[in-house]
Amino acid sequence: MAATWLKDTVFYEIYPQSFYDTNGDGIGDFNGIIEKLDYIKSLGCNALWINPCFDSPFKDAGYDVRDYKKVAPRYGTNNDLYRLFGEAHKKGIKVLLDLVPGHTSEEHPWFLESQKEEKNEYTNRYIWTDFCFQPAGDLNYVGGESQRSGTYALNFFKCQPALNYGFLNPTEPWQLPIDHPDVIATREALKDIMRFWLSHGCDGFRVDMAASLVKHDDEKKTGTSAVWLDVRKMLDEEFPDAAMVAEWSNPPLALRAGYDMDFYLNHPGNGYSTLMRDYFVNDKKKEDNSYFKKDGDGDINRFLDEYLKWYEDTKEVGYISMLTCNHDTNRPRYTLEPDELKLAYAFLFTMPGVPFLYYGDEIGMRYLELSTHEGGYFRTGARTPMQWKRGKNLGFSEGCEDSLYLPVDDSVDAPTVEAQDKDPDSLLNMVRDIIALRHSEEDLQADAEFKVLCAEKGKAFVYKRGDLTIAVNPSLKEQKAPVSVKGEVLYIIGNATLGEQITLAPQSFVIVK
Ligand code: NOJ
Repeated sequence: MAATWLKDTVFYEIYPQSFYDTNGDGIGDFNGIIEKLDYIKSLGCNALWINPCFDSPFKDAGYDVRDYKKVAPRYGTNNDLYRLFGEAHKKGIKVLLDLVPGHTSEEHPWFLESQKEEKNEYTNRYIWTDFCFQPAGDLNYVGGESQRSGTYALNFFKCQPALNYGFLNPTEPWQLPIDHPDVIATREALKDIMRFWLSHGCDGFRVDMAASLVKHDDEKKTGTSAVWLDVRKMLDEEFPDAAMVAEWSNPPLALRAGYDMDFYLNHPGNGYSTLMRDYFVNDKKKEDNSYFKKDGDGDINRFLDEYLKWYEDTKEVGYISMLTCNHDTNRPRYTLEPDELKLAYAFLFTMPGVPFLYYGDEIGMRYLELSTHEGGYFRTGARTPMQWKRGKNLGFSEGCEDSLYLPVDDSVDAPTVEAQDKDPDSLLNMVRDIIALRHSEEDLQADAEFKVLCAEKGKAFVYKRGDLTIAVNPSLKEQKAPVSVKGEVLYIIGNATLGEQITLAPQSFVIVK
């Protein structure tokens, strides 16, 4: 692990389309992010992750990259982005871009060359079979669209052909081994893109589908890990401060593959999902049974059973990143009210590792039921414009309503930054307070030891971070825990009685030093 600045970092994820529009075209832009840097700083966030902002046909909101080295004109120019790096740095804010290594857009020039009949430098840049009717084994594929007689493998949507990092153990002539020169060329092209942005001032990358590179990889992801370790070596030699966060959600593998951080994502039924999103069974909505739902069944062990194993296994290797949400997920406000969100966030921002706040979650923006836009499908509702203030387009854009990337929340009580800024009890100010405390207490930062003191169902959940004791009761009933807690109260939501045992009033949270 290289980037020591992560020890005291809180990230803010920006979906650039929807953050702040300064030219009235209805879509957010780099200048908009620059104008809002002081706001981001006011939250205590000292790093950004910006979703893909590169040239793209936007069939998957920019995760279908057409040119890795050129930004999409809707956000501005490359120079605007370089200026954003510079302005952010002046304010002590780092910037991660989104790296999409596993696939490109079907309109990327590499792919246009690769689909040609005559052999060329890019013939093996993607995974092609040898004949137009030959399926790509168990990989999703497309046939009948190329000049070349072959079918090509996909990594995600139809518009996203898989880049070729080889097969761990090739079994067909069209499957190249991971040390084939053409496969190494794909890896070198990836490094070249990384060098390009890092040398222009970006501070690292969030990496899309990081586990997806080598096909037919084994359980330990030996092939894919070898690619990332090679990338890490390059970073260590050339950009030792660069930080990498994986979209992998398997910290033992991702962190050993050279990542600094790995997201703990809400895969259905996993530990993280039980905290704030325990309401889907095979896509069907059911009653919410999340730990932070005040009338849920309140068992933190459903989270701890998975988390603790990962934490113990990886605490010396790298960081697990807890998140409020991301652009692929229903916002937590989907089922949780602001009083519930306060407790959930207090927990998330006092955990080890490096946390991520998704734009708008700090004011409790709602998930809106919307039709799909730019390949968003159900995710579209979590990508709506940031709600800055009352009035036209909730302060997001001066453009006409029809031009907006997505509609703004039209409910009369749509939360806004302006309203919550003035209210000392708002979710926004609570988020600011807990993040400020995290910065001032080293024991709340990335590295301090995490230890569970009481996790019995029906009792308050009590844990230690370094020398601090933290207790939470998200339920509507008073909860006690047989743990002696004494000292100075550093932070409290609700009410707590300290002593030989700790008693927490309904919906309470406390940090004791
Ligand atoms: C994960 C990204 O977060 C998601 O938005 C995207 O659609 C897929 N990867 C494909 O790139």
